[in-house]
This record gives sequence, C-alpha cells and structure tokens, in this order.
Amino acid sequence: MIERHFQIPFVARMAMSEKQIQQNYRPLIAIHKWFARRPGSLFRALLLSELEDVPIEQNYFKTHNFSEKHIFDPFMGGGTTVMEANRLGCMVTAADINPMAWWIVRQEILDLDLPAYAKAAAELRQYLSEEIGQLFETRCPKTGKAASAKYFLWVKTIKCGACGKNHDLFPNYLIAQDVRHTSNVFVCGSCGNLFESVDRKNSGACPKCRKSALIKHAARRNSSRCLHCDNEIRYPNGCVPDHRLFAIEYYLPEAHADKGRKGRLFKAPDAEDLLNVEEAIKRLRTMRSQFIPDDVIPKGDETERLHRWGYQRYRELFNARQLLGLELSCRWISKYPDEKIREALSTNLSDLLRYQNMLCRYDVMALKSLDIFSVHGFPVGLIQCESNILGIKGTKCLPVGSGGWLNITEKFAKAKSYCSRPFEIRHEGKRKVEVPIAGEWIGTHRNGSHPPEHREVNLICGDSSVIKELSKFDAVFTDPPYFGNVQYAELMDFCYIWLRKLVGAAHPAFASPSTRNSGELTGNINMGRDLTHFTDGISETFRRAAARLKPGSPLSFTYHHNKIDAYVPMAVAILDAGLVCSASLPCPAEMGASIHINGTRSSVIDTVFVCRNTGHVPRKWIVDTPEGVADIIREEIEALAVAGLKATQGDIRCIAHGHLTRLSIWNLRSIWKRSISTTERMGVIREWFISFGGLESILNALETDFSGATWKQDWMTTGMVCETPEMPDEISF
Ligand SMILES: C[S@@+](CC[C@H](N)C(=O)[O-])C[C@H]1O[C@@H](n2cnc3c(N)ncnc32)[C@H](O)[C@@H]1O
Repeated sequence: MIERHFQIPFVARMAMSEKQIQQNYRPLIAIHKWFARRPGSLFRALLLSELEDVPIEQNYFKTHNFSEKHIFDPFMGGGTTVMEANRLGCMVTAADINPMAWWIVRQEILDLDLPAYAKAAAELRQYLSEEIGQLFETRCPKTGKAASAKYFLWVKTIKCGACGKNHDLFPNYLIAQDVRHTSNVFVCGSCGNLFESVDRKNSGACPKCRKSALIKHAARRNSSRCLHCDNEIRYPNGCVPDHRLFAIEYYLPEAHADKGRKGRLFKAPDAEDLLNVEEAIKRLRTMRSQFIPDDVIPKGDETERLHRWGYQRYRELFNARQLLGLELSCRWISKYPDEKIREALSTNLSDLLRYQNMLCRYDVMALKSLDIFSVHGFPVGLIQCESNILGIKGTKCLPVGSGGWLNITEKFAKAKSYCSRPFEIRHEGKRKVEVPIAGEWIGTHRNGSHPPEHREVNLICGDSSVIKELSKFDAVFTDPPYFGNVQYAELMDFCYIWLRKLVGAAHPAFASPSTRNSGELTGNINMGRDLTHFTDGISETFRRAAARLKPGSPLSFTYHHNKIDAYVPMAVAILDAGLVCSASLPCPAEMGASIHINGTRSSVIDTVFVCRNTGHVPRKWIVDTPEGVADIIREEIEALAVAGLKATQGDIRCIAHGHLTRLSIWNLRSIWKRSISTTERMGVIREWFISFGGLESILNALETDFSGATWKQDWMTTGMVCETPEMPDEISF
C-alpha cells in the first residue's frame, strides 16, 4: 500500500535528480516533446509501493513482472504511467483527448527495427545534404576555410513610420557571454561588425566603425528609437515581422581549439551567406508545396500573443530556408516504404519543428537554441535563432549544437534502445551509478525475444469524461491537467497540423483539423472554460474510473497549483466518485531551474493524492486543527530536506493545499450530496476550507517554518466495515 510503503525522502531524491536531466533518467521521453512530464521515478515508486508489500527503497531497483495487474490512466499525456506500468509487466489502458498525446505514447510503445531506422535516418540526412546542404555552409573569415553554420541569428526589423527606413529591434547588443565562450561577443548596431569585449556590461566602441553602443536605440517595453531619424517606433504593429540575418555561430573544429573555443566561432554574414538566404527564398517560391500547412492560427489564450504580432497563419512562423528543409523532409519521408519507419520519421519531423521556426531564441549564456516550447507558451522574442536543419557531427561523432535532424534522430534511437534495456540511476555518495534492471522492458512486443513476448497496451484517443466500456482495473495512476497551467491543444496544434498532413490519412485520430476539443479540461478564457467546467469533467472522469476499480484499489494522482481554489474541483471529484483520500504526499515534480519556474514563486512540489473507496488511513494524518496540519507539514519539510530539497514558501503552500483538500474530503464524506449542483458542491468545499481556518491559519501555525522559508525558487466516502484487523496507528474508512 502506498500509504505504508512510499518513503518521502527516497522518492523525493529520485524524482529531484531525474527532473534535473530527465532525458538521462528516462531517455524514452525524447521520443517527442510533451509538456509537464512528471518524473518516471515517482510513478515507478507509486506503482511498486502499491503492488508489493515492501518499503519502496528495498524494492525500487529490483526486477518486477505484474502481468496480472491492469492499470488505467485517463490523462496519459506524454505517457509516464503507461511507460512505468508497462515496464513492470502490467496491462495498461490509457486515454487522452489530444491526438498528439495518443500518437506520442503509441510511438513510445511500438517496437521498431532500430538498425533499419538508423539507416533510413542517415539516408534522409544524405538526401537533404545533397539538396540543401550548401545553404548551411559558410566561410570562416579568419581562415578562409569552409565551415558548417550551427545557428543563424536574426533580429526583428521594423519600418520606421517617419523616415520609412528599416530599424533593427535589438534589445541589447550582446550575442554571447564569456561563460561557455572564451569572451563576450557583441554586434555593432551601426555597422553590423561583431567584436569581443572583456566587459559584459559595457562593450565600448566598435573597433571597426569607432561608434559606441546604440543604447538609446535599443528596443524595450514595445518601443524603440529609429536609428536613422530618432522617431519613436512602437511594436508590435500587427504586421508579420521581418527579420534580418545579423550573425552566424559556426563550427570549425580545428579553429582556435587551443583557446578552448571547441570550434565555436561567430561571424557577421557575408555576401555568400546572404545569397544562401536568397537562394532558399527563390527555391521555395518556385516549388509547389505539398506538406507546408496553410492553416490559420485560431484564437486562444496562448495564441493571442501571436495575433498581436501579426501572425495569422502557422506558416508565417517559419523562414524560407526552414520551410524548404521541412517540405523536402516531408516529401522524402512520405515516400518511405516501411510504415513503422515512416511513422517514426514523421514523429521526428514533428519534434524537429520545435527548433525549426522563427520563434526559437538564442541563449547567450548556454549558447544554444531555446526551442519554441522552452516555456509553456509562444514567446515572441526580438532575436530569433535558426538551427542548421541537418545537424552537425562533431569530432567525436557526437552531434554539435541542437535542433537538426542528426540531433533528433540520435535521441530518438537512444530513446527506443532504452525500451529493451531500461535502467535506473542509483546515487552512491556523489557518484551516479547506472543500474540495469535486467528482465524489464517497455513496449507491446519484446524485440528479438524467443519465444516472442507480448504485453497489452490499449491506447484511447478520446475524452475520458465520456469514455465507456472500460475493463476492471487494479489501480488508476494519473496526472490530470492542473487547471490552466498548460494549454496542451493550443500549443500542440503547432506540431499537429504538420504531422496530420504526413500521417493523418491513415489514422482516424487525426480527423479533426485541430487538437482543440471543448472537452479538454483546462481553464481557458478564450474558449469559455472555467473552474466549473473543469470540476464537471474531472468529476465525471474520476467517477467512471472509480466505478471500474476493484474494492480498495487506489485512484492516485499528482496535482499542484498556486491557488487553493484550483483544488476545489479535485475534492469535489473525489467525493463524487465515492472515494476517500487516504494520503496526500509531497514529491518534487518540476525542475526549479526550468525557465518557467526559476526565480518565481511557483512550486516544484506536487501532492500525490491516494484515494480509495475503502481501506486504512494512518491515524496521525487525521487532525482537526491548523496546528495539527502544521505538525504534519513540518515532518514533510524535514523529509524533503533529507532528500536535499529546501522547501520554499510556494512549495509549503502547495503542501498545505494538499492536506486541506484531503481533510475536507475526510470530513465531508459522510454528508456529501452529489445531487446538488456543481456550483453548490464547490461551495461546500470552499466553506469547509474557511471553517477550518483556511490556508492562512496553517501558515500561521507553521510560524518561522513558513515565514523563514525562502519565497522564490532559487535553483538553476462513507465508512465501511473493514475485513482486515485494524492497525493501532490506522483508521479504517
Ligand atoms: C498533465 S497532462 C498529463 C501529463 C502526463 N502524465 C505526463 O507526465 O506526461 C494532462 C493531460 O490531460 C489531457 N486531457 C485534458 N482533458 C482531457 C479529457 N477530457 N480527457 C482525456 N484527456 C484529457 C491533456 O491533453 C493532457 O495530455
């Protein structure tokens, strides 16, 4: 049982380490981007704590096979539950309303002839190299040698309303910091020269034109002063922005290797580089596109920003060279005879799109492209980064840079090979040791096994709140949407519209022109979806899932939100499903260093809710005062500290939200009326929160344990007769 065998310090340590570099711990996630993936280690720990009567720490690194168990996930997303349960030998049924989620998890689970895939990927790169390789070549101005362009840096330009000349919207003139690079690199806003300076804050005058940095012409807060006539220019102006190529980061391994540059150099574009841009425009203009989607960008909470910038169609988010490379890639893939490989490469194309668009930004410290989904939105920057679509092989045959075919196909191959040889990472002091879990594997068919082994995985593309004909399950493990935190459909449409053109005809899941669905359970102002809509959907889903659960089996899910009101739907849903919450356990599930978390008040801690229709709850968790809750939280803060996590005020708030929710369910279970309206049921929960003293009473009771914590992330049912004898430290329900 999770309530007994889940050990907070152990699981927190595993989950926290995993979230630092999730691809190293769960390479399978590299199949394709999905948002807010929960740590695989957390779900492995939950499954094992439930399925075997052993404390998790003693069980985690062992091999398991629960072939008789059937697990359900109604919100599969990127497939964390599917992967972990399948790997443990369980039968799995999982659903998601978003066709992209369905497709991605299917790709994770399907077997693939890896050598044949690698051969096809190499052929595709060879074809692209012959067709458009030249467009990614450049010349080193220092040595005159040919080199590969790694990243092209583009600045947004705007026509001045007063003088009619083009003005560059540079937010500042720094291109690279001397952190990973050997020096700070600046662009001169006047003559376009690139130069180095030891002072990162003050570049000094350009050594070529002798002009100082154009600080007063820099763009900030939607305004800039025209370089030519000093007129104030406001942006965005509702027209699709133009871009000007102003710098190239290129790779020449032999150049300056002695200075620790690792072959990385910067240059301003020369005439040949600009000709390559023209050539791409000409070739695209003369070709009839078969795969470039012409879809309009619909209105939405996240797409609003794109509309403000004048973007009306998705294709406007790409430059000509990107569109040319993508169109040629699609043509080649669509003709590939083997269906599985064709679908794998189509998945790769969809994932590649993240880096092949003009919303990618350049990280001046890490010196790499920040893909379109590096935050959960469509950020429009002023400097955009175009990656070499082919990808570059470095001296050790490893990919250099990011965002090209080589990068995407290599990580895909690594992800698929993890399926036949999954491992865990054990921390031994400061050392991280890869522990193969022999005997475990991921997929529907075990590649190359004799006799062939098969596992049941039933993936449903559909709305879980209306789903019918489900089998009986031994457990539900899920990670529901966190009310409005991520607009899955709005974001994923960016990839979907391309993937649909490539593979859609063969799959009914791709019938709709968009992944948007009125049944999607996210708060969305533009689509008129509020907390009540969310409550109804979660409630229906939990009710259906709970009805298929064997008595006493868990429905367990992760959740976090900065606002207590976002927990009301979860409490309503659990009570509507006739369940009791027998545990609310904290576990780190986000990465503090994530761009959308670091430096904010956001929490990295999820509450794992464990709910059952009958069972036992540890007596010490049933408290009736804010002080009692504060004592539980203190213990949990300590347990997290053992794992190396210093809880912030935001984290403590989320932990407290979890306990308040759990206690509201415990106290309301015997008087709960499903027959009253959703608004009234939500009101009952809110009233209970208030009667308990609310969040503030718990935070006050925590005293300095709350007030002394840092405020921001700073990392990079009714009672039933019990059949089993009651334990003295537990209460049955
Ligand atoms: C938080 S994500 C799950 C993340 C996933 N567990 C992982 O770690 O990758 C929530 C998922 O719920 C899906 N979803 C939203 N409304 C749904 C509905 N009515 N039925 C089924 N899935 C839904 C979203 O498409 C999204 O993929």
